[in-house]
Amino acid sequence: MEPSSGAIVVTGGTGTLGREVVRRLLEDEYEVRVLSRRPHPRADRTPREWAVGDLATGVGLDAALEGAATVVHCASAPAKDDTVATRHLVEAALRGSRPHLVYISIVGADRVPLGYYRHKVACERIVADSGLPWTTLRATQFHDLIARLTTVQRAAPVVCTLGGDARVQPVEVREVGDRLAELAVGEPAGRVADFGGPRVRELRELARLTARAQGWHRPVLPLRLPGKVVRAVRDGGLLAPDHAQGRGTFEEFLTRRGAMR
Ligand SMILES: NC(=O)c1ccc[n+]([C@@H]2O[C@H](COP(=O)([O-])OP(=O)(O)OC[C@H]3O[C@@H](n4cnc5c(N)ncnc54)[C@H](OP(=O)(O)O)[C@@H]3O)[C@@H](O)[C@H]2O)c1
Repeated sequence: MEPSSGAIVVTGGTGTLGREVVRRLLEDEYEVRVLSRRPHPRADRTPREWAVGDLATGVGLDAALEGAATVVHCASAPAKDDTVATRHLVEAALRGSRPHLVYISIVGADRVPLGYYRHKVACERIVADSGLPWTTLRATQFHDLIARLTTVQRAAPVVCTLGGDARVQPVEVREVGDRLAELAVGEPAGRVADFGGPRVRELRELARLTARAQGWHRPVLPLRLPGKVVRAVRDGGLLAPDHAQGRGTFEEFLTRRGAMR
């Protein structure tokens, strides 16, 4: 990748995905600025700029985006309405240097009727209608999110999961970060091809693998739950089998995570 003029601002650059985008951009020697609500950690010596701002209120965004050539928008607060944050970001970008806006969304956001996913689709629309040059990538669920569905049940005597035909296609977040970084330094491309993990997997199998990796000897209970969300997941709403570009497997993720403990 060739260095571009102007900083690349990464919102959510402290988060699971944003950290990987920042890592990759720094490896490729781009000028990176992280936007966070928190002050710069004193001990942090990573060679990137840091801007404090809050997307929920808009405070600090003009300074954070000053001179930006590109903004990679990875920040998200699932418990809130992300459209508010995305609107604030777009408004600041339009007041400023009108950077290329790169957005990360979720495969199946328009097929699985979760409130959070509805907000993701609305954010996609805000980005596309912003008048800024834009690129949007949808990715499948990251390995760590799928593992967390099991690990949050650490206090329970059984592990509950969705039954047989509920499938996901988990992806290695590092690879999504690499892809977003590549898009950030390329030309604005609109909605690009989805990015999915290497294999479609049953949720109950991934729950068993996670429980075993935790050293748990407790039953895994696949549930058949009613409801539109479960039906959409069982119908393959979260899958992108034609875009299985990811290479890292769930097993490799668990092994690496175990080694890091
Ligand atoms: N997790 C998945 O499986 C998955 C799959 C596909 C797509 N995605 C998308 O990828 C994106 C990143 O997800 P993630 O799992 O990496 O998120 P995460 O780890 O929860 O990180 C969230 C980030 O958002 C920032 N943030 C939250 N509220 C903010 C605010 N008001 N102002 C400024 N920054 C704010 C946080 O920064 P500070 O705390 O430093 O302020 C943090 O860096 C999301 O858009 C998500 O929808 C996720």
